[in-house]
Amino acid sequence: MADTTEIKHVASPLARQTLLDRDLTRPVADRRPIRLLPWVQVVKIGGRSIMDRGHEAILPLVEELRTLLPEHRLLILTGAGIRARHLYSVGLDLGLPVGSLAPLAASEAGQNGHMLAYLLAPDGVSYIEHPTIASQLAIHLTAARAVVGSAFPPYHHHEFPTSRLPLHRADTGAFLLADALGAAGLTIVEDVDGVYTADPNGPDGKQAQLLRETSAAELAGFQGTLPFDGALLEVMANARHLARVQVVNGLIRGRLTAALRGQHVGTIIHTGAAREAGAREAGAP
Ligand SMILES: Nc1ncnc2c1ncn2[C@@H]1O[C@H](COP(=O)(O)OP(=O)(O)OP(=O)(O)O)[C@@H](O)[C@H]1O
Ligand SMILES: [Mg+2]
Repeated sequence: MADTTEIKHVASPLARQTLLDRDLTRPVADRRPIRLLPWVQVVKIGGRSIMDRGHEAILPLVEELRTLLPEHRLLILTGAGIRARHLYSVGLDLGLPVGSLAPLAASEAGQNGHMLAYLLAPDGVSYIEHPTIASQLAIHLTAARAVVGSAFPPYHHHEFPTSRLPLHRADTGAFLLADALGAAGLTIVEDVDGVYTADPNGPDGKQAQLLRETSAAELAGFQGTLPFDGALLEVMANARHLARVQVVNGLIRGRLTAALRGQHVGTIIHTGAAREAGAREAGAP
């Protein structure tokens, strides 16, 4: 009869040590992860900046997405907009915790995604839910050139209670997904030409200058508003694959197409991934 202690023994370099000590985990954990879907281009469509504008903004963008399909395989992710903002104000007035506001706001991102997918349905595009993105994205993108999903990450009731509004919103969700997939790129579609030194639609808009190229590290010290959620800077700093993202104006026909072709037509934001790869090559731990 086999000794039960032998049967239970599974050799593993992490079996006998704490996972909290980086020096001990580094030999196992400090390897560049594989790229799961290196050919997918992720495109995040703004909820407030694009979807809330209705047909004038959406239909030309749908037309542009349609012409991109033969060229790229796309994961299109939509943000939430004005309905989530209304929901936040009602929910906060009622005293609801951030963890219950997050899934409600996320449902608007999903509604926007459904609407976009309906418009692209003749091209074989459909909306898929997060569990399907997690487990069957490859088969969906083999059957169709693009799918649409919600850009909101499913923190939901696990949302960090640091703030009364969900910290992790559509931009963070889109980035986390694109980086985890090892995607070919992430393009964030807004209603402005990129990231400016101040809100171009705000009171100091006239003085605002477009930042053609910047980095998550530089923007971490930025005083003022940005056209994406602040948590994005944090996840960009720790990126594993995506070395950059580009923020482009989706109201101007051709900008998204050019960005997906690798052209510099908006603001390029470098992440920590490029730095990390460089540091590794230089032999840093
Ligand atoms: N520094 C900045 N540079 C560029 N735009 C800015 C800046 N600060 C604020 N903005 C504003 O951000 C707006 C976009 O808003 P926001 O990012 O909330 O929309 P969205 O991306 O559609 O929303 P969601 O993330 O819910 O999809 C722009 O129209 C612009 O007026
Ligand atoms: Mg935005």
